Amino acid sequence: MTETTQVICLDGPSGVGKGTISLAVAKKLGWPILDSGSLYRITALKVSRDFPGQAIDSIDVSQLADIAENLSVSYAEKDDELVITLEKEDITHLIRNEDIGSKASQIAAIPAVREALLERQRAFLVSPGLIADGRDMGTVVFPQAKVKIYLTASAEERAQRRYKQLKDKGIGANLSILVEELRIRDERDMNRTTAPLKPASDAIIIDTSELSIKQVTDEVMSLVSKVNVA
Ligand code: C5P
Repeated sequence: MTETTQVICLDGPSGVGKGTISLAVAKKLGWPILDSGSLYRITALKVSRDFPGQAIDSIDVSQLADIAENLSVSYAEKDDELVITLEKEDITHLIRNEDIGSKASQIAAIPAVREALLERQRAFLVSPGLIADGRDMGTVVFPQAKVKIYLTASAEERAQRRYKQLKDKGIGANLSILVEELRIRDERDMNRTTAPLKPASDAIIIDTSELSIKQVTDEVMSLVSKVNVA
């Protein structure tokens, strides 16, 4: 990492569109993405395989941290998608369901797990820069970042978007269940003691409820150009 290496932090609640905006901004700048949520999701997948049927809170914290610390995972970009491999298995799609999302959020509330994943996240920062997508990118992982953006939208709006995504894929879903799942996850992420979901004190907040993907991307790019990071 050089002194000119930059990081753009995109934080915010579940389903707010961080992933989509990260991809759009990464494409414009030619920078890689850290999808930090995927690390918690991969840990959750590995835990559910190593401890089948066991509740997260019944598993020893040091064993959970050990799994997080020793994940054998790799990322590769293919056809506009981040392909994720765990121990030689393609798990890109396996980690994208709400069961894993919910387990990830329970695991993410454990300080030892967060600590175990911290340096792995920081190691993603290489020259010329990184787009960091998560909950604590601007507050904990990259507090030195010059561009910190916090995306927000109501739970109803986020659930609507998720509902549409699923419907477009031919997957049936119940809107009120989706709203409830988002609320539970938000509440856990916002109220945990370690690295809770909240905007950094120097973050710019963008409410995306009424904005298109292009409008949000343009706003992020305009903030990026104002601070001369790219
Ligand atoms: O962003 P995504 O939905 O993939 O994240 C899954 C879960 O991982 C979140 O609900 C949150 O609990 C946790 N997470 C976190 N810190 C991050 C990214 C994700 O605690 N930086």
